[in-house]
Amino acid sequence: MAKRWTNDLTHADVTPEGAYLNRRQVMAGMVGLGVAGLGANVAHAAGLKPDSWETITNYNNFYEFGTGKGDPAKYAHTLTTEPWSIKIDGMVNRPGTYALGDILSKMTIEERIYRFRCVEAWSMVVPWNGFELADLLDMAGVKAGAKYVAFETLMRPEEMPGQKYPVLEWPYVEGLRLDEAMHPLTLMATGIYGKTIPNQNGAPVRLVVPWKYGFKSIKSIVRITLTDREPPTSWNKANRREYGFYSNVNPNVDHPRWSQASERTIGGGLLARRKETLMFNGYEKEVAKLYKGMDLAKHF
Ligand code: MTE
Repeated sequence: MAKRWTNDLTHADVTPEGAYLNRRQVMAGMVGLGVAGLGANVAHAAGLKPDSWETITNYNNFYEFGTGKGDPAKYAHTLTTEPWSIKIDGMVNRPGTYALGDILSKMTIEERIYRFRCVEAWSMVVPWNGFELADLLDMAGVKAGAKYVAFETLMRPEEMPGQKYPVLEWPYVEGLRLDEAMHPLTLMATGIYGKTIPNQNGAPVRLVVPWKYGFKSIKSIVRITLTDREPPTSWNKANRREYGFYSNVNPNVDHPRWSQASERTIGGGLLARRKETLMFNGYEKEVAKLYKGMDLAKHF
């Protein structure tokens, strides 16, 4: 599939992993793997330094495995991620239940180093591996009239102990407007640092929408539905005053209980400090046009 977007963030000189894939490396047909092999030729340009593998995989939100930041790393190993399929239905020309391996054989996996900003006002930089959601939607064939995309996480309380508790309504659901879903920044991630994505980060495939608060980036996806109505979303259902459908990162629109003007960087130890939150999490140039004329305080 054609590459639609060029990364502006690159690996810093030294990373905890030592070697991983070239950010432009293309991998097609490596069925079942979230990786694109190891490559040299890592670009060294001005950019952000990705957080370490340890930080990214030990400080998580995945309420299906508990509400503590360390719970997913401790408990998510119980999730069976193979075989895995995604049901694609609703307003598509080719609805069906697609085996993940078949999907991956048609997708281009590339690396995307993205800022990741949680609504709780912490942030990381993550080197994801994945494919553009637009390519998957093109594969299914979006019908005219579709306006939104709904996503659903696996429902399996015997493997996801948190689903036995009514912290949220299960399964976890999310949604995007179709133009957001088709945006080249919107990624379906299958790896981190060139390795298969760990269960606690949403294995085997999760959404990454880097200009929105992290909760929009739904994990362990089993269903994608094209629809003409704004779909319900888990956190909005839990508290619609605090979590809007759009949830674009916006330093000027505070959460009712805390400021969104700055964020705590996770990782970095003693050097960690708060930094100013950027409009659309730093992706304003790419995505501001999607919201032209919209009142972002009203459509938060
Ligand atoms: N997806 C599911 N299914 N369940 C969850 O609890 N948490 C969300 C999002 N996706 C969540 C989810 C939240 S609040 C955040 S901040 C990110 O996942 C965290 O992703 P990470 O653990 O990879 O950093």
